[in-house]
Amino acid sequence: MTTWETLRSACEQCRGCSLGATRTHLVFGDGNPSARILFVGEGPGEQEDLTGVPFVGPAGRLLDQMLEIIDLDRSQYYITNIVKCRPPHNRDPLREEQEACIGYLRAQTRLIDPRIIVCLGRIAAGRLIRSDYRITREHGQWVQKGRVWMTAIYHPSALLRDPTRRPETFDDLISIRDKLREVCPEEFGSD
Ligand code: URA
Repeated sequence: MTTWETLRSACEQCRGCSLGATRTHLVFGDGNPSARILFVGEGPGEQEDLTGVPFVGPAGRLLDQMLEIIDLDRSQYYITNIVKCRPPHNRDPLREEQEACIGYLRAQTRLIDPRIIVCLGRIAAGRLIRSDYRITREHGQWVQKGRVWMTAIYHPSALLRDPTRRPETFDDLISIRDKLREVCPEEFGSD
């Protein structure tokens, strides 16, 4: 049975793709390891590479503000990425890099055992929901896989580039809040 310690240590030593050689820090994940809700981005950016913590740069600050709207902070969710090492110049992680890293996310997901997974952006949605996922058309819709409800919202970097998408994301956030109330009433039920 994998533990958090053995998983992190395997990840620290990983040279399954070339990103391990160029990273400053592994960006393993952050938040509550027993959370009911898991957020998954695509890969670390510069600030994340420097600190070893996911979503602490400009996109992360926007994400924090977005989740504050629905009263969620990192004590209530876990957050990680499809790839744990920064792709050079923030390019999209390559298919082979995602393949080399996906086992770590699967193991993290087994340890957390979340009820809800929210993909942040098209890369995570394309890897976790459906390979032909269209974020512009399908964001905010829910699919159930076993015991887990999954959805995707625009990546906060996309919202920084194109603020006109923020109202749609606001609706998606409310839908996430409602799903938490429905699926985990003991923790998130309204009073
Ligand atoms: N973008 C991501 O997808 N992940 C991070 O950790 C930071 C920015």
